[in-house]
Amino acid sequence: MSDWISAPAGPLRGELRVPGDKSISHRAIMLAAIAEGTSRISGFLEGEDTRATARAFAQMGVRIDAPQASERIVHGVGLHGLRAAPKSIDCGNAGTGMRLLTGLLAGQRFDSTLIGDESLSRRPMRRVIEPLSRMGAKIDAAEGGTPPLHICGKRTLCGIGYELPVASAQVKSAILLAGLYAQGETRVREPHPTRDYTERMLAAFGWPIEFAPGRARLSGGHRLCATDIDVPADFSSAAFFLVAASLVPGSELTLHAVGINPRRTGLLSALRLMGADIRESNARCLGGEPVADLIVRHAPLHGIEVPVEIVPDMIDEFPILFVAAAAAGGATRIRDAAELRVKESDRIAVMAKGLRELGIRIEETPDGAIIIGGKFVGGEVDSAGDHRCAMSFAVAGLLARDAVRIRDCANVATSFPGFFELACATGFGLAE
Ligand code: S3P
Repeated sequence: MSDWISAPAGPLRGELRVPGDKSISHRAIMLAAIAEGTSRISGFLEGEDTRATARAFAQMGVRIDAPQASERIVHGVGLHGLRAAPKSIDCGNAGTGMRLLTGLLAGQRFDSTLIGDESLSRRPMRRVIEPLSRMGAKIDAAEGGTPPLHICGKRTLCGIGYELPVASAQVKSAILLAGLYAQGETRVREPHPTRDYTERMLAAFGWPIEFAPGRARLSGGHRLCATDIDVPADFSSAAFFLVAASLVPGSELTLHAVGINPRRTGLLSALRLMGADIRESNARCLGGEPVADLIVRHAPLHGIEVPVEIVPDMIDEFPILFVAAAAAGGATRIRDAAELRVKESDRIAVMAKGLRELGIRIEETPDGAIIIGGKFVGGEVDSAGDHRCAMSFAVAGLLARDAVRIRDCANVATSFPGFFELACATGFGLAE
């Protein structure tokens, strides 16, 4: 188990590019693998999660070359060209990998078994099993609806119209990927619009699809044509630096080519409401996605009531928002965020416990928290093996009176390989 020590430090200064977007990297491998022809993926995230997805397709007979770091050449086998994996497919820590693969594998002519690490093995899978079963899939899970998942092949799938009970891009994407193999039309509607990368990328690979915020529809029976994908820098990885530089006096950082798809940037709105000074410059399109350079300068933050309508647009950013709120003046209230309890960890519980250890007053609620801004005293916290909680506590350490020891940081490599080095280069006081 790897522990980190984050000591008070700063200011943070410099220019950096954080690694490629995790959501887009997973989808790029998946669609390129079942497309016809050869696709090049640039800016691919070399994280453990996305590498596990690439390994899964290699196990199913797809040749994937890595001519250099962050680049993949995928030799697509076509919609029906995958072969049964010789053994269980290990998705590691990746909920996105497992849920999207479940949809894609439900339409194959062979059986598959998906397994994951300790955290993934606790995560709810009924949310995908239920709609996919309605389409005609047969998927067995462990008692409680958790992995391992056994997905039966040779099923005839039929399109459905499905209203998602929770706003989840993973569930939506699993249904759409199964819909590629289904007879007739597949339609999904969401209670709140979520990231639309699957829809955009299906269109980029030439699959006819209609979509608008909160809904999508496609029919089976078409083909995917290879294309090249440029992956923007991951907003969720940029988020740690946006908050760190906002909080540490004298800081100024420029983050290059960050994906600013509005379904991902709820944290920008929240931080600006709190008083942050973050500017977007050089806005452009990269691989069909909006990107910009983000320039963040220190500014005093104050507590807010997080608007519930932006919660799904910042669903991965709550651990770092907890830290921003804990260092801001006054109270911050978070509501309507119960999904945080079923992420890589129960992020409400893990962040509340850690911040309390650091001397912050925080009240947990079933679907959020009330955080009273204060001073971090330092001490020892447990990330519970959750990459985003570990990096968030590293930011808290920057501002603490004494150093913060963070337990169990190895999983940072699932989404942000090189965080430690990049953080040190910008002025963090991190040690192992
Ligand atoms: C993701 C969707 C979100 C997010 C996850 C990535 C995706 O999960 O938390 O990190 O790539 O589709 P949910 O669909 O469970 O909200």
